[in-house]
Amino acid sequence: MAEEFDSNEYPHINKGLDGIVAFSTTKSFIDGQKGELVYAGYSIETLAEHASFEEVCFLLWNDRLPNSTELQALNKKLQNARSLPKPVLSYIKGTSKTAEPMAVLRTAVSMLADSHEQQTDDEKEFRINKAISITAKMPTIIAAFDRSRSDKNIVEPLDHESTAFNFLYMLNDEEPGEQAEKTMNLCLILHAEHGMNASTFTNRAICSTESDMFSAVTGAIGALKGPLHGGANQAVMNMLLDLDETGDDPVEYIKGRLEGKEKVMGFGHRVYKTMDPRARLLRKESKRLSKETGHEKLYEWSEAILETMKSEKDIDPNVDFFSATVYYSMGIKPDLYTCIFSSSRVTGWTGHYIEQAENNRLVRPRALYTGEKNLDWVPVEDR
Ligand code: CMC
Repeated sequence: MAEEFDSNEYPHINKGLDGIVAFSTTKSFIDGQKGELVYAGYSIETLAEHASFEEVCFLLWNDRLPNSTELQALNKKLQNARSLPKPVLSYIKGTSKTAEPMAVLRTAVSMLADSHEQQTDDEKEFRINKAISITAKMPTIIAAFDRSRSDKNIVEPLDHESTAFNFLYMLNDEEPGEQAEKTMNLCLILHAEHGMNASTFTNRAICSTESDMFSAVTGAIGALKGPLHGGANQAVMNMLLDLDETGDDPVEYIKGRLEGKEKVMGFGHRVYKTMDPRARLLRKESKRLSKETGHEKLYEWSEAILETMKSEKDIDPNVDFFSATVYYSMGIKPDLYTCIFSSSRVTGWTGHYIEQAENNRLVRPRALYTGEKNLDWVPVEDR
């Protein structure tokens, strides 16, 4: 049989793998019609209300919630793994001020492979330990890069406190308040896992070749970086800031984009046909925070944009839409938003990696060949 399908033999392709079920998973479930999201048995609303990000990490790696001893042990392991190896820190200090944060994060995570722990007898424990190590270090990379590019001192991670607290502390060199920690914890939970999205698929495809977890996470960061995926949150904020600068009317601006057949970032989803439940949760947070920090205007514009998108195109917002104003109200620079998304989604990626490794088959789809065949060779000087 030919290596790839011939266009005469196999005329149908699912562009964008739309509707293709390639894996089974216990990590998450999405009902796109109802707007329902479940991580390993728990609704996103339940987790948003009750969980810590660390509990969600444990859930995604073990498919169950930890008891208090297990949670304490995980917290300790995460806290102890936060510091960066020297070469990674030197790399971050040497990056240019204009370097793309996601590109820096991708390279720094790839470099972590140099200093990973020794193999244990228990494969699963070994993989979870690697997942802990990467998850613990990603916030340190992001904060160190941001401070280094701003000519500020790099803040050493704390060996105590939650992931959310420690990240904000390293970013600002100041202990966050209880509410800021809570909001960051919520954001980390909401972004942790989301079915077979492009970055998770990339991560599983890399794992399926029996490549290592660092390679899989590095590839996944590359996939998340794009504006159709995780990069949309930064694009949303840039749109709002542009509106602020130009003084354009948000509704007219959106109508103009739609007339020009341009996408509006932070809207639409392959799976959800109603509002993304994460957007629902972040909408409330955005309203509260915008008011508290004097950015009501940005929230009001967001609502106006939402209404326009609904009435003009019947398209709902996704997770990236309101997360932008939430991070902005927390004083975080827009080009770090996708990095924060990565530092949370790494738990889903590594959970899927573990799942794939335990029941692996090489990912190898087919392509429909639409080129020519049997062309005659023409010497280079005659072409
Ligand atoms: N703005 C305007 N029109 C849109 C949008 C949008 N954001 N999203 C979809 N549409 C329209 C699209 O133009 C098309 O219309 P028509 O049938 O008239 O040509 C129709 O809806 C179907 O869109 P599609 O792009 O074929 O749908 P898809 O399932 O391939 O794409 C998507 C899903 C998320 C890539 C797309 O909705 C999009 O580009 N959204 C903007 C980027 C964004 O916010 N991405 C974040 C996704 S959620 C978080 C994450 O995964 O990281």
